[in-house]
Amino acid sequence: MKVFGIKPRVRVVASHRIDTDRLLLRSPVAADAPTISPILGNWNVAHWVVRVPFPYRTEHAAAWIERSNEERSAGVGWPFLVIRRDDGALLGSMDLSIEDDPTSGALGYWLGEEYWGLGYATEAAIAIVGYAFHNLKLNEVTASTLPENGRSIRVLEKAGLIHIGRRSEDTIERGRVETEYFSLRRAHWRG
Ligand SMILES: CC(C)(COP(=O)(O)OP(=O)(O)OC[C@H]1O[C@@H](n2cnc3c(N)ncnc32)[C@H](O)[C@@H]1OP(=O)(O)O)[C@@H](O)C(=O)NCCC(=O)NCCS
Repeated sequence: MKVFGIKPRVRVVASHRIDTDRLLLRSPVAADAPTISPILGNWNVAHWVVRVPFPYRTEHAAAWIERSNEERSAGVGWPFLVIRRDDGALLGSMDLSIEDDPTSGALGYWLGEEYWGLGYATEAAIAIVGYAFHNLKLNEVTASTLPENGRSIRVLEKAGLIHIGRRSEDTIERGRVETEYFSLRRAHWRG
């Protein structure tokens, strides 16, 4: 796979597990909740993620795990936790979910603050975009991000998504906000 000069090694080991050079992407399980909650309990992380409540507690993480695994069983969501292979650290999450169009998956993600700036989100995003097109046979991957979230915009660009424009979205903590909307169609994917 080749995206803008990056040539990651990506291996889909099972339908719920993807291996990349440094990461293992796997489905969340109930026992992950206490590790997830302090990551999203950090406002520096949470305030960028439009669909999480704050303060974020372990019961929020438990509910998210249960709901997202149900969505996966129903074929409308594919949640992955981002695990560092070297030491097994849970770095964050990246998921795809079907919103209106069943052939289009929306990407959502967050990483613990101490893991930012090391290329992990880009590595995971490239793998999940490939999974969306190659394994799930979706026609489009989309994402939206707050306009001031330069890091997230950069990740989307490096994963090959194209800026389409602005739209309005409902958020849990901020009400209705403007977001930057990105899309990559299968026909334009350099996989
Ligand atoms: C967005 C997020 C997932 C990025 O993770 P990450 O692992 O740090 O991303 P990467 O290291 O793969 O890439 C970050 C890129 O942003 C760049 N960057 C860093 N700070 C930046 C800033 N303030 N403005 C613009 N770009 C910035 C980095 O230089 C890097 O680009 P480069 O490789 O071209 O140099 C992480 O910051 C995060 O979890 N943030 C909080 C939650 C969030 O924003 N989720 C997304 C909601 S849409």
